[in-house]
Parts: sequence; C-alpha cells; structure tokens
Amino acid sequence: MILIIDFGSQYNQLIARRVREHQVYCQIEPPEIGLEKIRLLRPEGIILSGGPASIYEARSPRVDKGILEMGIPVLGICYGLQFMVDALGGKVIRSTKREYGFAELAIKKTAGLFEGVEKRTRCWMSHGDQIGSLPAGFRITASTENTEVAAAEDVKRRFYGLQFHPEVVHTERGKHILENFLFGVCGCAKSWTMNAFVKDAVAEIRATVGDKRVIFGLSGGVDSSVAAVLLHRAIGRQLTCVFVDNGLLRLGEAEKVRVLFAKHLSMNVRFAKAQKVFLSRLKGITDPERKRKIIGRTFIEVFEKEAKKIKGAEFLGQGTLYPDLIESRSAFGGPTAVIKSHHNVGGLPKRMKLKLVEPLKHLFKDEVRLLGKELGLSDDVIWRQPFPGPGLAVRIVGEVTAKRLDILKNADAVLLEEIRAGNYYRKLWQSFAVLLPIKSVGIMGDLRTYEYIIAVRAVTSEDAMTADWARLPHDLLSRVSNRIINEVRGVNRVVYDISSKPPSTIEWE
Ligand code: XMP
Repeated sequence: MILIIDFGSQYNQLIARRVREHQVYCQIEPPEIGLEKIRLLRPEGIILSGGPASIYEARSPRVDKGILEMGIPVLGICYGLQFMVDALGGKVIRSTKREYGFAELAIKKTAGLFEGVEKRTRCWMSHGDQIGSLPAGFRITASTENTEVAAAEDVKRRFYGLQFHPEVVHTERGKHILENFLFGVCGCAKSWTMNAFVKDAVAEIRATVGDKRVIFGLSGGVDSSVAAVLLHRAIGRQLTCVFVDNGLLRLGEAEKVRVLFAKHLSMNVRFAKAQKVFLSRLKGITDPERKRKIIGRTFIEVFEKEAKKIKGAEFLGQGTLYPDLIESRSAFGGPTAVIKSHHNVGGLPKRMKLKLVEPLKHLFKDEVRLLGKELGLSDDVIWRQPFPGPGLAVRIVGEVTAKRLDILKNADAVLLEEIRAGNYYRKLWQSFAVLLPIKSVGIMGDLRTYEYIIAVRAVTSEDAMTADWARLPHDLLSRVSNRIINEVRGVNRVVYDISSKPPSTIEWE
C-alpha cells in the first residue's frame, strides 16, 4: 500500500484515485498520523501531498520528521517537496507570487521517475514558494523556465520531489511518472482489484460482526445497494435491511427494491410503509428547509421503530464512501462538507447505541460501481442517477399533497422512459421532473384547461458541485412534452430548465 499524507491540497483525492487506477491500494491520512500507525500500515511508499500553506507559516501542517528515517521511499509533491527539503536542511524561498498553469518541463535525467518520458513535456504548476537550495544528497532532475527545481531526487535514500502536479490530467506524462514511482521505485504489486477487495472485506466484516445482527437502511441508491449486498455476502441472514417507504419515491421504486433485494437476492428486508405519516407531517409546509427537517426527523423515527423490532442488533451498516470520510475529518473539507450535511442521517447510531459497519468507507464512487459489478448487480442498479433523501418533496415547489405527488410521479416516469430510450440516462448526472404549483391556461380539444406546469431538469456534472444544463435534442424534448401533456392528467404545459449551477442549484428546492 501507499500512504498519502494530506497536507490539504484540493488534488489529494485525485492522487489517491490515480494510484488506485494503477491497481495499488492507498490510504489518505492526516499529518498528525504517528510513526507507530505508519509502521502498522507498512506502506511501500509515501506520498507527501501538496497544500495551500507556506512552510514559513507557524501553523503550516507538518508530519513527524521521523517519516524520513524509516527507509521508505518518499515522493513529495509541491508543498510536500517543500516540507521534505525544509526538514532535511535545504532551503525554501518564500514567494508572494504564484506560478499557476502550464509550464514546459526540461528533463535532465530520463531515469527514475522520468524513465520513458520525453526530454520535454508539459506539466501543471500551482505553487507560491519554491526551492532555493536542496539538502545534501539531492540533485535536480528537471526544470522549467521559472522554476529551477521542478523535480529533484536523492536516489540513495529513495526520496523524490516534484514541484508540479503529476496527478492532474494537464500534466501530460503524470500518469507515467506516478507509475514509475509506484513500480520502479517502491516495487508495488498490482494487487488492488475488486475481486481481492471482496475477499478481504468479507473476512473483515465477519471478524467485526461475529454472530451479532446488523441493521441496514436500504435506499435503493448505488452506495446503499452495493453495501447491502456486500454485507449480505459476508453475513447472510444476520443482516436485516430496513426500507422506509416515505411515499416520496419515484413511480414503482419501492416495488423494484422489493423484487430485487427480497425476491431475487433473498435478503432479509423489512418494508416500513410510512407514506401517511410523512404526508400528514408535510401538510401545509412550503419552506424547503422545513420540509427537509421534517422528513429527516420522521425518517429516523420510522427507522428506529422498525429497527427496535429486530432483536439483538448491535451494528448499523452504512454505505459511507471514502470522500465523505476524508472530508469529515479534514480541516480543509471545503464546500462539499457543507453540501453533504443534509445528506446523512447523523446521530442515528449514537441514539440507538449501535456500532457502525461501513464496508465502503475506503472506496471511491467509481470503485463502488466496479464492486457492484463484481457482486453481480446489474447496470440498472450500478449506474443509477443520484436521488435526494427528501425525494420528490423537494421537487414539488411549495406544499406536498397526495394529488401533486401523483402527478409528479407520472410525469417523471414518462421523462425517464424517454431519456432511457434516447440513450441519455447514463450520460446525464441527473434528469427529473419538477412540479410547479402554479396553473396556466391551455386548450385541449375544444376545451379550455387550467392546470399545473412541469419543469424538466437534466444536467451534466462530475460531482454535483457544478453542473450544466444538458443540451438534449429538441425532438427528444418534444416527445417528452407531448407525452407528459397527453398522458398525465393535471398538466398542460412543460418547460425546460436552462440554468446551470452555480448560480442555480440542481434541485429546485
Ligand atoms: P443541489 O440542488 O444542491 O444538489 O445542487 C446537489 C446534489 O445533492 C442532491 N441533494 C440532496 N441529497 N438530501 C440528499 O440526500 C438533500 O436534502 C439533497 N438536496 C440536494 C441533489 O439531488 C444533487 O445530486
């Protein structure tokens, strides 16, 4: 495994993903990690990440210098290189000017990290400070016009440093350079496969859980489905899933979950039918944040009541992913941390006095999909678009009523059918219908109508932080509009949302 020390760079998760793409397992740990824990992890190599701080700041992040005396190869990237140089007695020059963007790298030595790389190649810079003088034993291996020490090495101690970022796609040979570090320098094996992961995870879950029972909140989403199936593979009937039907799900959703998990996979699933209580609590509520709070609270209540019926449960399973874990403990969590705060049902395990099992907590989303495939789940489950916890309640602007829910579910089903038929489902981050609680005039046959408006939202995105409205073909939009107006009673107008995020958000509420 490779240990990545997190100095706070926005690219850290990217470093981890790049390493794993080479089928080498890696873990991101905060600088406070002690040498003892590092010894236990037994890394074959260490990557010191970049970060926004200057080594001259009193509170700049530092890792125990002993990390450089363990005989383990080290790759310092940007701030990581500066930390290493400073710790080993070299000099970092303070700069107030940032160098940001492309630079041409002139390689002096095409061996080691640059084995197989052309003498001239483009790299991506993003730094303020730079190296003034290298510690004894180091030599420069590459420079750019503005940065003499763009790369350096101490072959004897197996220390390498890059002032540029090999993990971003803009660095042309970044992938190759990392590959040289992983295999050429550290001698890693390509052992990180989902097949191997399943074996290890199953053994670990069994060791943790023993003969106790595990409760799991199944939502039908990708992470939740894959985590449930993995837990089931490990402990079979000791796992009880609870599916809360809050009535705010898409058309036919609850039934789909029942057929797949309870019927085909023969898993233990308890269905809590709670449409009525959710709807009655939402009566008269129009404020989006109040809706979210009510739904969150009611979910916990219903889930707890159902869970109490499962005797002897000591664990709560959750489909937490690696980015959530890293961001939740990082001081540099950034805006994603805030956005996600409404996603999870925090506090539940503590209240219920349950211990957590989170079998996906070291995986990235793309790995979860691979794992799902390894576990035999269909593409239909693995490639589901994200769906918000408060469900259709935040897609009905204003008050949620049974009638409005019914209209929205049917309109949404038509939209998704057309999106799938046009082969757009996987190309879009999300695509859904929104019901606007205002009525407009229309004409159907010879009759005047006065009905609701459906807005169609379809966006492309990488991570939901930013999104763009999808340029769907006009004939697809035309079919969607015709079908919704003709097939869904209560709608006489369809509009297409052409706003991107920011400044709009993906959901309407
Ligand atoms: P916005 O609307 O903020 O959404 O651009 C970003 C992503 O988060 C999802 N979302 C939610 N997910 N509970 C959730 O579990 C929520 O309250 C919630 N609000 C938004 C949204 O679907 C999109 O993928």
